[in-house]
Amino acid sequence: MKYYIILYILKKEYKIDIECKFWLTEGRLPWMDMQDFHRDTWVEVNLDDIHDNVASMKQMLPSEVKMFAVVKANAYGHGDYEVASTALKAGADFLAVAFLDEALALRGKGITAPILVLGVSKPDRAGIAADAHIALTVFSVDWLEQAKKYLKNDQNLHVHVKIDSGMGRIGVRSKVDLMKIDRWLANEASFSFGGIFTHFATADQLDMTYFRKQLDTFKAMLSSLKKLPEIVHASNSAAALRFTEPLFNAVRFGISMYGLSPSPEIKPILPYALKEAFSLKTEIVYLKKLSLGDCVSYGATYTAQGDEWIATLPIGYADGWIRKLQGQEVIVAGEKAPIIGRICMDQCMIKLSKPVPIGTEVILIGKSQGLSISVDDIATKLDTINYEIPCMIASRVPRVYIQNNQVSHVRNPLLNKI
Ligand SMILES: Cc1ncc(COP(=O)(O)O)c(C=O)c1O
Repeated sequence: MKYYIILYILKKEYKIDIECKFWLTEGRLPWMDMQDFHRDTWVEVNLDDIHDNVASMKQMLPSEVKMFAVVKANAYGHGDYEVASTALKAGADFLAVAFLDEALALRGKGITAPILVLGVSKPDRAGIAADAHIALTVFSVDWLEQAKKYLKNDQNLHVHVKIDSGMGRIGVRSKVDLMKIDRWLANEASFSFGGIFTHFATADQLDMTYFRKQLDTFKAMLSSLKKLPEIVHASNSAAALRFTEPLFNAVRFGISMYGLSPSPEIKPILPYALKEAFSLKTEIVYLKKLSLGDCVSYGATYTAQGDEWIATLPIGYADGWIRKLQGQEVIVAGEKAPIIGRICMDQCMIKLSKPVPIGTEVILIGKSQGLSISVDDIATKLDTINYEIPCMIASRVPRVYIQNNQVSHVRNPLLNKI
């Protein structure tokens, strides 16, 4: 163990290249000794950064404005429980998820804060939601009448009414329908009309025309209610970061909690620096020298132009590192190296300028020795949005959590470390 620590410090802190056979024969890097996973690929989620992103947003908001931390999709791939508890510690008031199972999963892990399900739930699940103190999104009297049948006398279901002000996804589209819901809820003891909300389709675009139109529509809908419910919310990250006017009394903070800009367009005008919390790392598991004409991977599409050092990485498309990432660079030993040949299901190959030891750390997303590959870089390469990137990294890639600048624990669903 002493050797491990000395070698680790030499390798990591002083960047001294040492023979790494020890790693292979005797085990993993010291901080992974906890045996929560045995593969050489992992995600690191920096909870300190998530804490700071939430705290900065909270500081910007007027004190009466509450914050939902949006932790759907396993907290955009970062880990639902860890992000939820970090966000709540940093000042978030409520949580929001996409569907009931995500909310129940958080309850199962001990989260007691109010949770709102943003998507559509089946009316026959009303009793389950009420029992777990989970609020559901509703937008029709018909749904409410159905749901009522599934609530026992002593049960009370909190609902937030969704207004479709222009997103065209779900929600009430007319004042008449909204007033019907309002009247119906006013007479029902088994339902609490806890909130009303809408969602902006273009808050992350510099052109504000459509955003203003949606805001006007939402305000007009609100004006048809005799009394507003306790919570009125509309802003996602983009709107909350950019505008003070449509905050109402709560915001729903998603992508920027994870340190990512809602769009490249508004990145230069964000009010504070976001801290990107997600890194993806692996290690070189095999190294070989190819000669002129040797080929690499399926289809034999890559051919060596001479003597070349080719390393194998244990990550592939089943990990979410999809085939379109061929050509993308990674960071290894202080240099960038391209992925060459087709990406396989569990492995891919990179071309190095010089040989490096087996076990050398490789950064696919993150920072090392002054070099960086951001989530945005991967999104650009894939011609998509940054939201998709952490979401697409599969659950078979363990999540290692960093808290107070050190590894706190690991989540690995494959070994039931969840
Ligand atoms: C209804 C709703 N509210 C809030 C959010 C959070 O948005 P963002 O991640 O852009 O902050 C989302 C995300 O998709 C959403 O669907």
